[in-house]
Amino acid sequence: MKKGYLIGIDVGTSATKASLYDFELNLIDTSTRGYDIDTPFPGWSQQHPDTWWLATKDAINELAQKQDLTLIKSIGITGQMHGLVMLDSAGKPLRPSIIWCDQRSDTECGEITEMIGKNRLIDITANPALPGFTASKIRWVAKHEPDIFAQCAHILLPKDYIRYKLSGVFATDMNDASGMQLLDIANRRWSPDMLSALNIREDQLPKLYEGSEICCVVDEAGFRQTGIAKGTPIVAGAGDQAASAIGNGIVSEGAISLTIGSSGVLFATTKRPIIEQEGRYHTFCHALPQLWHVMSVTQGAGASLKWFKDNFCSVEIDESRRRNIDVYDLLAQQASSVPIGSDGVVFLPYLNGERSPHLNPRARGVFFGLSSFHNKQHMTRSVLEGISFSLLECFETMERNGLQVNHLIVAGGGARSDFWVQMLADIFNLPMVRTNVTDTGTLGCAILAGLGVGIFTDLDNVVSNHIKIKSIVYPNEINHQTYSSSYQKFRQIYRHILPLF
Ligand code: XUL
Repeated sequence: MKKGYLIGIDVGTSATKASLYDFELNLIDTSTRGYDIDTPFPGWSQQHPDTWWLATKDAINELAQKQDLTLIKSIGITGQMHGLVMLDSAGKPLRPSIIWCDQRSDTECGEITEMIGKNRLIDITANPALPGFTASKIRWVAKHEPDIFAQCAHILLPKDYIRYKLSGVFATDMNDASGMQLLDIANRRWSPDMLSALNIREDQLPKLYEGSEICCVVDEAGFRQTGIAKGTPIVAGAGDQAASAIGNGIVSEGAISLTIGSSGVLFATTKRPIIEQEGRYHTFCHALPQLWHVMSVTQGAGASLKWFKDNFCSVEIDESRRRNIDVYDLLAQQASSVPIGSDGVVFLPYLNGERSPHLNPRARGVFFGLSSFHNKQHMTRSVLEGISFSLLECFETMERNGLQVNHLIVAGGGARSDFWVQMLADIFNLPMVRTNVTDTGTLGCAILAGLGVGIFTDLDNVVSNHIKIKSIVYPNEINHQTYSSSYQKFRQIYRHILPLF
């Protein structure tokens, strides 16, 4: 096979990563540029689209210092889902993006439900209105910033802004589009009812493609900014969870993945849209034609741990720098010095509200059960346990609706920690499988990029040839029993304090 590269670009919540793969899907090189979330008020989360673009350019430019980017044959883009990007008619961002974890649009969700009707909304979009999705964010801007709404010529998702900067084209994929709540999920097309309820036109929205379809090529401006050759094809790509699922080999019914990044997501592929009537988990189009998926989302997974580290662990941050180790490894080490159940401290990870299984944008984080006996190690362990308990609660809701699995494929930053993966195995009482893939998101969109230009023809072959089990972490039955009582307490605390939110 001729030498060449595929590039996967992942416009994440904490960083943008660009990774080069060869046609055997070996990772050749990767570059990452980080950034922060702007939180001007409680429950608000914003990032400027040009922050993503700068990070993308910097990451690609760093790759260019070591690699020959003219060898790139196809580009796949993925990224954080649901964020609202509004551009004027000259293609300039009109305001910072209101991103996925922003919770300001609770009232607007009620209004959308009222306008469309609860059941009809679920019939069309497969999900109830949630502040996490894009539709209610659009209505929020229309109500609170009418001048901006009036100037809005283009509505995009985060990764599609990067595509626009590379190609000048407004396009998206079925999977990411599903998370806007403007798509007719069963028929894979924009919903005229949703568009008219939100007072937007189809020409303001990007054109729809399946994930591996080529939808544009790098233009002169894109080439000048990145060095990737003019004319290089760009496939539609996928939202971060579907791209990660492809990178985990979740491309047909049966397997389920658990990805812990900023959010924590359980993901299963389905042959038809399977809808949970109360919306306790989401139903979207997969990034692969004629497939859908369900997924359950803990909003603040890695994000809760990062919040804890940033606000309370300056000593550990300094120590990890001094010892040249990962601060999260140090935190896990400290957490492991405390018994299972954190001696009674329980953490609810609802710092940014919650989506699954509780549809509650007003939920907030809680440390419960602190006494003068406890120390920071207890709190650290309780954060890891609380995130894991929340994911188990998501999983149990999916199980009650018929999902059957005998193991989970774990991925994302969280899966790098042996301590956390053992904790997950014990809490779920299921084996946790780690694959050879270190970065499922960029690999998943590189696979889509390769399918788009015909470098790959059979996805099942690609998955079975390249995605291999690396290790399996088995549950310990005694630990599982010990965790169970903390889990019950975790569930009860939320239910008892619910009225206070
Ligand atoms: C998925 C979701 C998150 C974000 C950020 O619905 O909101 O996974 O895409 O990772």
